[in-house]
Amino acid sequence: MDDKKLNLAVFISGRGSNLQSLIDACRDEGYPAKISVVLSNKPDVPGLQKASDANIPAITVHHKDHNTREDFENAMLAALKDYEIDLICLAGFMRILTPHFVNQWPGQIINIHPSLLPDYKGTNTHERVLADGKTETGCTVHYVVPDVDSGAIIVQKRVPVLEGDTPDALAARVLEQEHIAYPEAIALAVKEKA
Ligand code: GRF
Repeated sequence: MDDKKLNLAVFISGRGSNLQSLIDACRDEGYPAKISVVLSNKPDVPGLQKASDANIPAITVHHKDHNTREDFENAMLAALKDYEIDLICLAGFMRILTPHFVNQWPGQIINIHPSLLPDYKGTNTHERVLADGKTETGCTVHYVVPDVDSGAIIVQKRVPVLEGDTPDALAARVLEQEHIAYPEAIALAVKEKA
């Protein structure tokens, strides 16, 4: 059974709560994917500890050790080589991947973004949602294409914006839904590939 599971690489840059939601989902025998490796572009982040607590190989490719984006991406590609990865899951990975990397994995990279795309691409989504007086926001899991936050949508989850919300309060409400959306999206992506 295990051999038929999709091999995931999860890319992180920090806390790793979405990584944890994927680790937890993969504990279910019936879940159609397993995490083969976790890659961080920053050393010593909490997500790396979460990976090693779950006995998942954890690799750091520090972007600061590389002079160009292409060198950094080549180092990541080299690090992945031994893992027979089917799908790369960006989970709070804070580096923009260039076409050099993305085009080598067509339809095989997905990302989670804390807004209802195509609205609020980029950073500081919750601040901007509040500044615009929106009554609803959410999260999106989507395929990654060279244009940032623009690929086909796999799953979206909606949450209300409540009176008196701060960016942190809204982020926490959205994050709860992210932890549901990401495992769901991977299961759907597996079905699409079957
Ligand atoms: C999440 O809100 C994700 O949508 C965004 O960065 C945050 C990462 O959180 N891209 P975590 O590291 O998964 O806890």
